[in-house]
Amino acid sequence: MISQYHIEKYKEYKTPFYHYDIELLEKTLEKVTAKASELGYVVHYALKANVNDTVLRTIQKFGLGADCVSGNEIKKALEHGFESSTIVFAGVGKTDEEIENALLNDIFCFNCESLQEIQVINQFAKKQNKTARIAIRINPNINAKTHHYITTGLEENKFGINMWEMENVLEQIKEAKHIELIGLHFHIGSQITDMKIFRSLCLRINEIQQWFNHRNINIKHINVGGGLGIDYTNPNKNPIPDFDNYFSQFQKFLTLFPNQQLHFELGRAIVAQCGNLISKVLYIKNGINTNFMIIDAGMTELLRPALYQASHKIENITNNSKETERYDVVGPICESSDCFAKALILPKTERGDLIAIRSAGAYGEVMANNYNLRNTIKSFVF
Ligand code: LLP
Repeated sequence: MISQYHIEKYKEYKTPFYHYDIELLEKTLEKVTAKASELGYVVHYALKANVNDTVLRTIQKFGLGADCVSGNEIKKALEHGFESSTIVFAGVGKTDEEIENALLNDIFCFNCESLQEIQVINQFAKKQNKTARIAIRINPNINAKTHHYITTGLEENKFGINMWEMENVLEQIKEAKHIELIGLHFHIGSQITDMKIFRSLCLRINEIQQWFNHRNINIKHINVGGGLGIDYTNPNKNPIPDFDNYFSQFQKFLTLFPNQQLHFELGRAIVAQCGNLISKVLYIKNGINTNFMIIDAGMTELLRPALYQASHKIENITNNSKETERYDVVGPICESSDCFAKALILPKTERGDLIAIRSAGAYGEVMANNYNLRNTIKSFVF
């Protein structure tokens, strides 16, 4: 919920900008950590979702680990107090420099996505006279049934290693003297709201665990990735995802061996609802069938609608006129895909009104760019 206090503050800043509601972030973190610690689960925050300084520090204070996908994310996590022993490093294209630095920093685990990557990590670990801890990212071939750009667990995806390659991979790991296999890693996609999908993942992991168990391979860590979705339609009704229900799927359906530790890499579920993109109405333009509401934020500030046909709740927060109108809400960028919503019914809007694009705390600011030589978007936390 955007409070009147927030709206008054918004009027002081130059639009467009992101606002992160720190109180909601803290409440979300209380929820996620309460249930995870009750069950003994380890949660790593996926930095890719949001790297605002205050947001990161707050998450770190609640004791989460870090999930990074680049050398710079590792650097950022370390700068914000995350212990290297909590950092997992994923990505299909880790560069030599990134691998060397991750080894220098003694991160907890490399989530490995190909055989060749494992061999390269082995070489660099040898050079530093160290043993690199790795998890094999396995492609469980589960359809996350989310947008195809954010579905990652299918065999034809570029991510992970398929089970039919596993014998060979294990042979190679045996040869690699500077590699210690400590975990299995999975991540099937993002914005998953159907708990049945996580249940299927659990059952598939149980089968995969049997496969390793039959070969007497002892795996200490199971990492199920992230993916828990949020309610983009009703952010006021569901500001905090149902972590209890999510974690209980794993408790009920995933069979862990004694002393095995379960890890999660949550991004969106932690930060999405605490962020709003605040924009100002520049013009109202009346078309033949449609009215265009032209705002000062565009796909450069929030790419999700243009890239994934994502829909975010849009509110006029400074005008509660009883009269309504139908609008296409569009940005100023010279691209037809620069559109946030079509045929949206809103209070009759005027030039200068403030518009909130809700649930924008994840994959919003981090994906912003300077196309059309736009200014880099700022963010505020209060
Ligand atoms: N772990 C791995 C290996 C991942 O690839 C991702 C996200 C996560 C964890 C965190 O997933 P989450 O809990 O946030 O679903 N830009 C897209 C989402 C891309 C997700 C990429 N991977 C969007 O705006 O919807």
